[in-house]
Amino acid sequence: MRAIKLNGFGGPEVMAWADAPDPVPGHGEVLIEVAAAGVNRADLLQRQGNYPPPKGASEVIGLECSGIIAELGDGVRDWQVGDRVCALLSGGGYAEKVVAPASQLLPVPDGLDLGAAAGLPEVAATVWSNLVMTAGLRAGQLVLIHGGGSGIGTHAIQVARSLGARVAVTAGSTEKLRRCAELGAQVLINYRDDDFVAAVHAEDSGADVILDNMGAAYLARNIDALANFGHLVVIGMQGGATGELNLGALLRKWGTVHATNVRNRPATGHGSKAAIIAEVHRHLWPLVADGTIAPVIHAELPITEAGEAHRLLESGDTFGKVVLQVRDS
Ligand SMILES: NC(=O)c1ccc[n+]([C@@H]2O[C@H](COP(=O)([O-])OP(=O)(O)OC[C@H]3O[C@@H](n4cnc5c(N)ncnc54)[C@H](OP(=O)(O)O)[C@@H]3O)[C@@H](O)[C@H]2O)c1
Repeated sequence: MRAIKLNGFGGPEVMAWADAPDPVPGHGEVLIEVAAAGVNRADLLQRQGNYPPPKGASEVIGLECSGIIAELGDGVRDWQVGDRVCALLSGGGYAEKVVAPASQLLPVPDGLDLGAAAGLPEVAATVWSNLVMTAGLRAGQLVLIHGGGSGIGTHAIQVARSLGARVAVTAGSTEKLRRCAELGAQVLINYRDDDFVAAVHAEDSGADVILDNMGAAYLARNIDALANFGHLVVIGMQGGATGELNLGALLRKWGTVHATNVRNRPATGHGSKAAIIAEVHRHLWPLVADGTIAPVIHAELPITEAGEAHRLLESGDTFGKVVLQVRDS
């Protein structure tokens, strides 16, 4: 098969579409002929040498894909050769073939094309596990989603609205905020001009849940923005990893700070990728199947233009996901 290989670590130019050994499905795994692969911010870090794959995972970049099951490993019962699926991966998505644990597959609903489906598993797993399984977001609560125009943000807005929560978002441009509003966001905060702490306190007595991509840069203000009993969930460190936490301020609100990722979770057991995908399949997937929650795709590029796709994501000019087409779906 062919896959994106890295000629050293560095800029987008280190990626090359080249021959690679075919992966072989092991016990509980399936082989997928990849139709498309989603591009994630983590992929940029891996390309730069700052986010190595977990032990045992493919060295090939790519945390999610869609495609057709081509082969079943031993012990796989719930899936058939020929099924249209999308998969949460620990790596390997930027390739013509990838193996995935059967427990990390989701069926592609009728009517959804495989290109769009490739952009769903990572955002669905991240958003559902953090907003719902970790922070317990529920109807009537106020959630603040930083980076509302990101791949994660555009999905999180829709999920939060489907739960009946009120949604505040930050973004860096009026145009992105306008599009966040179209997805259902009600409180629009341009982080270049407006103070998000003041904005959520003007709306309510703070945010019950904050989904944060900025880490250290927003830590103190996120605590200020929390409502009593609020949950701050840090999923990204675009503003640094080391910050100062005022425990007094957190304690006075009976608040909680979580920091989580999906990729390094165990495959099975408590808090695992299999557990998240099972919850996503049960609770979120019916909303994807009936169109309540739709993939937001900024651009689809051929896999041979993976470098251009990374430049596009790095530019910050995207709204939603960037997807790489590996073969015609
Ligand atoms: N923990 C996990 O398991 C997990 C999984 C997936 C993703 N993530 C993280 O989630 C975040 C989003 O990922 P993605 O793939 O969706 O990335 P993406 O589409 O590239 O989005 C990055 C976003 O950061 C926003 N941003 C930049 N500066 C900001 C600021 N000062 N305040 C608020 N937002 C700002 C940009 O919005 P503007 O253009 O409006 O500035 C952009 O929308 C990343 O930090 C990523 O590492 C974590």
